[in-house]
Amino acid sequence: MKKQILVTGGTGYIGSHTVVELLNEGFEVIIVDNLSNSDISVLENIEKITGVKPAFEKLDLSEALQTENLFEKYRDIDAIIHFAAFKAVGESVEKPLDYYSNNLGSLLNLLSCMNKYKVSNVVFSSSCTVYGQPDKLPVTEETLRREAESPYGNTKKVCEDILQDSVAAYRNLKGIALRYFNPIGAHKSALIGELPVGIPINLVPFITQTAAGVRKELKVFGNDYATSDGSAIRDYINVVDLAKAHVVAVDRLINTNNKHDYEVFNLGTGRGLSVLELVETFQKVNDLKLNYSIVERREGDIEKIYADTTYANAELGWKATETLEDTLLSAWNWEKNVRNIK
Ligand code: UD1
Repeated sequence: MKKQILVTGGTGYIGSHTVVELLNEGFEVIIVDNLSNSDISVLENIEKITGVKPAFEKLDLSEALQTENLFEKYRDIDAIIHFAAFKAVGESVEKPLDYYSNNLGSLLNLLSCMNKYKVSNVVFSSSCTVYGQPDKLPVTEETLRREAESPYGNTKKVCEDILQDSVAAYRNLKGIALRYFNPIGAHKSALIGELPVGIPINLVPFITQTAAGVRKELKVFGNDYATSDGSAIRDYINVVDLAKAHVVAVDRLINTNNKHDYEVFNLGTGRGLSVLELVETFQKVNDLKLNYSIVERREGDIEKIYADTTYANAELGWKATETLEDTLLSAWNWEKNVRNIK
């Protein structure tokens, strides 16, 4: 029988790519999303790519009753991948209560129902934001977490703790927290990708929207960091590579030989890239000129971070393989598709 995976936030950016990889690997998928930051049309596009239309439930996991009803309806869930969360750093500073009640509330409701309905396995979407600006690079899973820079970052940290404590307390529960570095790019079909509502906060959607003429100019935040060209450094990972790591994590949890209760993995490429290097590569591979200028640093940004992927590569048998060039091509192909640009 097919293993059944509940994917919360499954119509979102990373969620939709993960659903595609799960379906490709023969899992049965149930998507839960409240569509607060995604569009229902994603479902059809998942079907166009995979030939399968997953079950879909529109509901809010921060509502206990709705979550309970979900578990009443689906009694054979083998594992849950929990993406659904608010994720805008700036907004979280303005609306901390929204962030705490949504991000913590939905995890708490999920874990309570998992305990009650005997669902054992959960993968949680965490972020490298839990490391803050580390003293030593690259960061390993052993690198100490820092005090969060924003309520958003704190929700990731606290949710990791909630998961770890729950796994320790409830014997049947197993969990994996995946700490993402910077996911970018889109599926090669250009049928799914990152579709931010309003003005993009993240770098690559801002770049592609500028190239498409939706935004006038990209602002590069700071060129006075202690890096080779002065712009900040991140570890940009292809979203399909990232999605594949979730399939591996789910397999690991479901596998009865796995004796670990709670594990943490860094998901990155291991390569640090500056904002200006990324902009340069985007222009080159897509053969276009991007309108950009250098402005002040963005408040709350760190100077540089990139992953040590040794542990994840060895333990999961997983590695990011897509090139930066192909990834930036895919990002632009997706934007062109969205904007009907030939
Ligand atoms: C941020 C969060 C991260 C979160 C992610 C998803 C922190 C420290 N980081 O990552 O936890 O998971 O968003 O939303 O909380 N940049 C520009 N111009 C732009 C946009 C970005 O120069 O218009 C630069 C930024 O200054 C940064 C880099 O591009 O150096 C990447 O920025 P971004 O894509 O927003 O991701 P992070 O801030 O790294």
